[in-house]
Amino acid sequence: MATPTPLPPRTQVPRHVAIIMDGNGRWARRRGWNRVRGHRAGIDSVRAVVREARAAGVRYLTLFAFSSENWGRPQREIAALMGLLRRFLRVEVPDLKRNGVRVRAIGELRRLPPRALEAVRWAEDETREGRDLDLILALSYGGRDEILHAVRSALAEGVRPEELDEARFRGFLYAPDVPDPDLLIRTSGEMRISNFLLWQLAYTELYVTPTLWPEFREAQFREALADYARRERRFGLTSEQLAGGGGG
Ligand code: FPP
Repeated sequence: MATPTPLPPRTQVPRHVAIIMDGNGRWARRRGWNRVRGHRAGIDSVRAVVREARAAGVRYLTLFAFSSENWGRPQREIAALMGLLRRFLRVEVPDLKRNGVRVRAIGELRRLPPRALEAVRWAEDETREGRDLDLILALSYGGRDEILHAVRSALAEGVRPEELDEARFRGFLYAPDVPDPDLLIRTSGEMRISNFLLWQLAYTELYVTPTLWPEFREAQFREALADYARRERRFGLTSEQLAGGGGG
């Protein structure tokens, strides 16, 4: 058996990992099953990745669980996804709480069905003391929606154009205290951002794997972390500047 990829040293672990969990439908279809079965298997991957992220020392994990575009899916699939979300929270919250995980949600949450919204608020409330890992669920989330929401909030507060810089703008995002993702993982091979965290991903490292989400488990997550640990982040600077060698 292959030796499992070790976890990188803490100093090389991304503080914030964001994930586009894609490929549930294809995974199920390939087996001749309906798409919902793929989402159900995807929950086991969520559980595995949360556990591994916490063990690795990741501080923020943002999962794209339901996009603003997903409202266009068949009603039956939407209902199933909302049901899975509620069940996931009901079953996992006690464990998450025990393990120092704080559940948070970002997105146009008012659009969620009342029982799903209630479950999300309950989970946030139950876990608000969690200090080890923030598990941020993007629900009814769109990056353009978030930017518009921020602009509207700034206008409503009477912010003057000359006062609006990046730092001030950030204060109007859904989760202003959360640092930008260091690493974005996308499963199932698509080379797209798909309206996820548009403002926050400006300098994020991208990791795209052909693995479908239901097959993305501990080992695959470790591999993504190891890949990230091998990269050099430059934020638009030269390697010499980053090495502290001066230059200009
Ligand atoms: C994309 O697969 C995945 C989704 C639209 C939803 C992801 C949701 C889960 C993993 C379950 C709920 C999550 C939580 C946190 C409880 P797809 O259906 O677009 O796959 P396809 O591209 O192969 O069709």
